[in-house]
Amino acid sequence: MKKLIVLLIVAAFVGTAFIAVAQDKGPAVIKMDKAKMGVITFNHATHQGNVPDCATCHHTGGFETCDSCHGAKDDGAKIKYKSAIHDNCKGCHKEMKKGPTKCRECHVK
Ligand code: HEC
Ligand code: HEC
Ligand code: HEC
Ligand code: HEC
Repeated sequence: MKKLIVLLIVAAFVGTAFIAVAQDKGPAVIKMDKAKMGVITFNHATHQGNVPDCATCHHTGGFETCDSCHGAKDDGAKIKYKSAIHDNCKGCHKEMKKGPTKCRECHVK
């Protein structure tokens, strides 16, 4: 009986850990519609596959939205939202010679 209880407790822990990991990944697809230039459909899940290290983009260790620090106003970060996001997205696409670098390949009306 004792063994069974221990087993159940272990199973519960492992179960919660799996749920926590699944939730942490964020949305699979993110529609970014703030720019008048047009909506960007960002495939978060595909990028997580191609870019294994979350910190390549979430570079502060947490997973807050980029504009929570790179705001229009000075919120601690000196780099404004537009350049932070463009440097990150386009920068990597140029470096890897993969992924869109032209305005209309990302911004779709
Ligand atoms: C690799 C994809 C990509 C490319 C290429 C790209 N952009 Fe963007 N751009 C984005 C993303 C993502 C955002 C953030 C949109 C959002 O948050 O809704 C953005 C935001 C913007 C904004 C709004 C910034 C703000 O503060 O609201 C403008 C203006 C803009 N882009 C213009 C351009 C122009 C002009 C080009 C071409 C020279 C271009 N973009 C190329 C992805 C791209
Ligand atoms: C190629 C860049 C990139 C990679 C790699 C990446 N993410 Fe993201 N992630 C983003 C962007 C961009 C957003 C949208 C942020 C925003 O709205 O400002 C986002 C959003 C999120 C959110 C939702 C944040 C919120 O509050 O809305 C979570 C959670 C998240 N990511 C977790 C992860 C995890 C975990 C990994 C690694 C397995 C990962 N991401 C890898 C770019 C990336
Ligand atoms: C908790 C605050 C915070 C969050 C959230 C954040 N950044 Fe940053 N970021 C900074 C700070 C601080 C710097 C250092 C430069 C500065 O002061 O602007 C920086 C610098 C950058 C740079 C310049 C190159 C580098 O790595 O030093 C890029 C590009 C960038 N951030 C993109 C992003 C993107 C894309 C997201 C969302 C996925 C994001 N940041 C989320 C605070 C943040
Ligand atoms: C660290 C590298 C890296 C970063 C950062 C990155 N990407 Fe990409 N992206 C890629 C690669 C690699 C591909 C090509 C995938 C393929 O063709 O298999 C790609 C492809 C794409 C595509 C076309 C294919 C698809 O999945 O829809 C879009 C659109 C795109 N990226 C948008 C973005 C946006 C928007 C950002 C910033 C929020 C971003 N990417 C940040 C590496 C990156």
